[in-house]
Amino acid sequence: LTAICGLALTAGVAMADPAGCDGDEEMVKFSHVTNSDNDPKGIAAELFAQRVNEEMDGKMCVEVYPNSMLYDDSKVLDAILEGNIQLAAPSLSKFEAFTKAFQIYDLPFMFKNIGAVDEFQHSEAGMKMKASMEDQGLSGLEYWHGGMKQFSASKPLLLPGDAKGLKFRVQPSEVIVAQIEALGATAQPMAFSEVYGALQAGVVDGQENSWANINSQKFYEVQDGVTVTNHGVLDYLVVASVDWLGGLDPEIRDQMLTILNEVTVERNAVVNDIAEQALKAMTDSGVEVRELDDAQRQAWGDAMKPVWEQFADDIGQENIDAVQAINE
Ligand code: LMR
Repeated sequence: LTAICGLALTAGVAMADPAGCDGDEEMVKFSHVTNSDNDPKGIAAELFAQRVNEEMDGKMCVEVYPNSMLYDDSKVLDAILEGNIQLAAPSLSKFEAFTKAFQIYDLPFMFKNIGAVDEFQHSEAGMKMKASMEDQGLSGLEYWHGGMKQFSASKPLLLPGDAKGLKFRVQPSEVIVAQIEALGATAQPMAFSEVYGALQAGVVDGQENSWANINSQKFYEVQDGVTVTNHGVLDYLVVASVDWLGGLDPEIRDQMLTILNEVTVERNAVVNDIAEQALKAMTDSGVEVRELDDAQRQAWGDAMKPVWEQFADDIGQENIDAVQAINE
């Protein structure tokens, strides 16, 4: 009987604790909103957990909670500050309340591609931004790339006028709201986990996201098609609380941060491949993907770029200029 109970207990523990953590290890909960299989953030979080759990066995143990299982992005930063979880990687749009400088990432047509994003993040200005929330208790650890954003809607979008009068789900970001309003459309901020249902029910008509997210969340099933706009950037910041990091044994902290950095370099290098795979999966299954010609693309830029001016003071013109110099 004891043996049977023991077995049942072990099985129960194994189910509740997939990482197999034991009590005297430093427990790390990593909460995020995307999936774990075919999405840049999900894959990176799993790889990080796998490496920590192997290489730091007995010292630290990471459990990943994907798909908004624990928190959606509106709650996750508070959860970090309150110590309920230790790591998260919300998109940069979610940090607006902490620092306005991050709004630069939401400006439409600001970065020509992910390479330019990467270069800016590694510049002095980018590094400074990453560290800019320390006094509010948040430590920015690494930038993770998500990919360039594309628009989809319940009707074909080829010119900005096609978006007029539609309602788009947006991340809660003043810049993205302004960008949508510049199209004569309405912006509806909403949690990521609710987007599919809202598109399906017609509560919103369209959305913008990375190829990986459009594919893995199956938004295309409830949209007319996707337009290749590459008009914005979806990027993430891996964060922890200053208190938690400061309280870790320095050797354990350094080993974890080294692994995190190595995972970042490895996974950021393949973000465009992930986007291509997602795009291919969709076109292979018959999703309508619409390319823009130069004049159409120019028209989207002309319609949305005026929002730069609205946010330049908060973001800092010098940061905007630095990105434009990188783009050239
Ligand atoms: C979104 O809310 O659309 C994205 O931030 C989701 C994500 O984290 O990729």
